[in-house]
Amino acid sequence: MGWRNRSSLLFFLVLCIVHVIDAMNFRNNTHQAEYTQFLLANGVARTPPMGWNSWNHFQCNINESTVKTIVDALVSTGLAAVGYKYVNLDDCWAERNRDWRGNLRAKSSTFPSGIKTLADYVHARGLKLGIYSDAGYMTCSNTMPGSLGHEEQDARTFAEWGVDYLKYDNCYNDGSKPQKRYARMSYALQKVGRPILYSLCEWGQENPATWAGLYGNAWRTTGDINDTWESITSIADQNNIWGRYAGPGKWNDPDMLEVGNGGMSLEEYRSHFSIWAVMKAPLLIGCDVRSASKETLQILGNKEVINVNQDPMGVQARKLRSKDGLEVWAGPLSSKRVVVVLWNRGRSVAPISVTWRDVGLSPYKPVVVRDLWAHSFVSRNKRFRLTANVAPRGCKMYVLSPY
Ligand code: GLA
Repeated sequence: MGWRNRSSLLFFLVLCIVHVIDAMNFRNNTHQAEYTQFLLANGVARTPPMGWNSWNHFQCNINESTVKTIVDALVSTGLAAVGYKYVNLDDCWAERNRDWRGNLRAKSSTFPSGIKTLADYVHARGLKLGIYSDAGYMTCSNTMPGSLGHEEQDARTFAEWGVDYLKYDNCYNDGSKPQKRYARMSYALQKVGRPILYSLCEWGQENPATWAGLYGNAWRTTGDINDTWESITSIADQNNIWGRYAGPGKWNDPDMLEVGNGGMSLEEYRSHFSIWAVMKAPLLIGCDVRSASKETLQILGNKEVINVNQDPMGVQARKLRSKDGLEVWAGPLSSKRVVVVLWNRGRSVAPISVTWRDVGLSPYKPVVVRDLWAHSFVSRNKRFRLTANVAPRGCKMYVLSPY
């Protein structure tokens, strides 16, 4: 064969390969588009999920009577009425071994009535039940089985019990890519005919913001939170990076709230709650609501702050500016409004300013400024800029409404 023939054969081969790759991509994309549509159409988590989770306060010390009294407290404190509707069991709710059919079983010493009965209890009070499993062989506590290799069976079990939310952890896995393991549970949930909010918990290891929105409704962006100032400031910064991937049906999850667990001051907890709210984080209470103080309930129950988190536009606010620990966070809300948080991470009181221009509003437009913690209007006709003295480790949170 002459060189001319050989190179045309080569050219032809290259063309074929390009064509095949193209076709494969097209198939993948179509598939992904359909799948994304499914998730967005399942009606779940159009705004960030709100509720309570057992882990931050109780770890493995949970049982059905504790959970039932927490449900009662969510109702009697008014927290359920302001939107905290998911009651989520975390790790340690199941027996170490599956039954003879391979089904997961509630731990008989702590959940003797079973999960279905608990779900009925929760549903009867207008709330929803969440459960926990793991994309590995065991869950992180190493006390109950994971769902790897049992995805369809476990998804069916959860649906039969009336579960509404699944947190899916990442311990004791087989070393394969989370993209694969988390997708398998996503397909399994899709088949069970019950909308189950799917929360991926792979701790931000493989940049889940870039892929998890295809498979689930929320994804952890970081390792575990703890009840300290260092933890919440560092998590806020890590979660901030992924802002543009969040939106209705799919949220960055900087982990559950520590408000009320005792490790931080009220000012620090107010900052924690404000920043989680504007980042459109799932708001999952992590304290014992049965004994929560008046101040804790005032933070968790601040309806004006909750309304920002639940704004239908669903855009995650970002850090606009940071200098010497003085920060401005802001983001758009529906009806052309803007939310602003002036956050003082320092040890002494300090003034922080923001201009209308900083947040994309016309400098000449009059704006109504509402202080969401003082529950009062700063001004009904404020122009150009806003400056406030902010307490150490505290924040101010405003909604600016141009008119
Ligand atoms: C992991 C998760 C936590 C919690 C524990 C339970 O660490 O990240 O949120 O679920 O497991 O063991």
